[in-house]
Amino acid sequence: MSDTPNIILRANDVENIRDFDVYVENGGYEALKKSLEMGRDEVINVVKASNLRGRGGAGFPAGIKWSFIPKNEPIKYVCVNADESETGTFKDRLIMETNPHQLIEGALIAAYAIGAKAVYIYLRGEFWDVAHDLDERIAAAREAGFIGENIQDSGWDCEVYTHLGAGAYICGEETALLNSLEGLLGQPRVRPPFPANKGGGLYKEPTVVNNVETLANVPWIINNGADAYKAIGTEQSSGTKLYCVSGHVKNPGVFELPFTTTFRELLYDICGGPRNEGTSFKAMLPSGGSGPIVPLTDEVLDTRMSYEDTAKLGTIIGSASLIIMDDTVDITWVASKVTKFFKHESCGKCTPCREGTYWLDKVIDRIMAGEGTPKDVELIANVANNMQGATLCALGDFAANPIIHTIKQFPDDFAKHVQGDTEMAVAGD
Ligand SMILES: Cc1cc2nc3c(=O)[nH]c(=O)nc-3n(C[C@H](O)[C@H](O)[C@H](O)COP(=O)(O)O)c2cc1C
Ligand code: SF4
Repeated sequence: MSDTPNIILRANDVENIRDFDVYVENGGYEALKKSLEMGRDEVINVVKASNLRGRGGAGFPAGIKWSFIPKNEPIKYVCVNADESETGTFKDRLIMETNPHQLIEGALIAAYAIGAKAVYIYLRGEFWDVAHDLDERIAAAREAGFIGENIQDSGWDCEVYTHLGAGAYICGEETALLNSLEGLLGQPRVRPPFPANKGGGLYKEPTVVNNVETLANVPWIINNGADAYKAIGTEQSSGTKLYCVSGHVKNPGVFELPFTTTFRELLYDICGGPRNEGTSFKAMLPSGGSGPIVPLTDEVLDTRMSYEDTAKLGTIIGSASLIIMDDTVDITWVASKVTKFFKHESCGKCTPCREGTYWLDKVIDRIMAGEGTPKDVELIANVANNMQGATLCALGDFAANPIIHTIKQFPDDFAKHVQGDTEMAVAGD
C-alpha cells in the first residue's frame, strides 16, 4: 500500500499543487502536450488499455465510452459530472479544491481524444465557491495557452466552462444532468439515444459524461502508460480509488488506495476502528444509500474493495462512499432515513419510483411508530421488489435496495418494531 503513488491526492505530496505554477513545475499539462503529439486514436487506445473504469458509480470503462463517439460528427461535448450527489461521497469536491488542474487537464485530454471543442463542468449548486475557484484555475490555464484557440499550436480549439445546478440528487444522473445543463427540468431522458449518440447528448450532439475522479486519473495514465496503471490494483479494477469513509470510525476522511486494499485494512489500520469504546462494527453501506447494505462480518472485512470482489458479496463499491455503523444503530431506522431521502429526490417522472418511494416511506413510518405488523414488512419487501428494474433510471433501483437488503440482512432489527411472528415477512424478499 505504501508503495502506491498518490495519483489523485497529490496535494498530500506537493504543497499548493492547486496553483497553476506549482502544478506546471511538477509536470502539469505535460500529458496534454503529449496527447496532442500522440493523436486522438492513440490517446483513446491508451485509456482503453489502462482499463480505467468510471468512478461515478457504474464502473464503465472510460476508453470504451470515448470510442463510442462518432468521428464524423462536427460538434461534440465533454461534460464533467461534478454533481457529487451520492450520500456519503465527498471525494470530487476534494479533488476540485486541492488538485483542480489535474481535473481540467484530464477533461481537456478527453475533449481532444473525441474531438470536442467545449467542456462543461457541471457542479451541484452548493459547490458555488468551488466553481468560482475553478473559474480562476481555468483562466490561468487559458492564459498559458492550454485552453482557447489553437491550443499549443495544435490547431485544436477548446473552451472550458463551469455550470452550477440547483442541488438535486437526480441531476447527478447523466441524462438529467444534460437536461439541467440545457436549462430544462432536471429529469432523466429516455434512452436510446444514448449521450454518445447523435440525438442523445448535450444539445442532441454526441457527448461524453465522466465523473471528476475518472478524468483526474487520465493525465497520470498518459504520462506513465497503461501498463503502469494496470500494475496497480486488481485484474478488473486497475489504478487507485478514493474511498470516502464516514460514520462510526475514529478517523473518517478520504483515502486514496489501490483496489487490492481490504475493508479491514481501511477501517481498522487507517480509520482506527470503531469510534466509541465498547462498541463494535455492525453494518456498512459501501456505496452510500444507493447500494446494498452488508453486515461487517469477518468475511466482508477481509474482502478487497474492488468492483469484482464487492460484487461477490452481493453489493457494490460504486462511488466508494463507505457509511459505517456500529452496534448501537437500529437498521430499521437506517432503512427509514434512506427511504425518506429517495422519496424526496425522486423526480416523479415514472410511476414505480414516484409511487413506490411514497408507499415505502408511509409504511416504514408505521413500522417505526410501533404500529406495524409482520405483513407490513412483507408489504414493503414486495413493493421494493416490484420497483426493481421497472424504472426509467437507476434511482428506482437505488430506492428499493435499502428496503430489500436491510430486511434480508438484519431481520431482527425489523422484528423489534413489529408485533407478532416476523418469519413469513423476512422470507418475503
Ligand atoms: C440517481 C443517480 C445519481 C447519480 N449521481 C452521480 C453523481 O453525483 N456523480 C457522478 O459522477 N455520477 C453519478 N451518477 C452516475 C452517472 O449517471 C454516470 O454514470 C457517470 O457520471 C458517468 O461517469 P463515469 O463513467 O466517469 O463514472 C448517478 C447515477 C444515478 C442513476
Ligand atoms: S426512477 Fe425515479 S428518479 Fe428516475 S426517472 Fe423515474 S421517477 Fe425519476
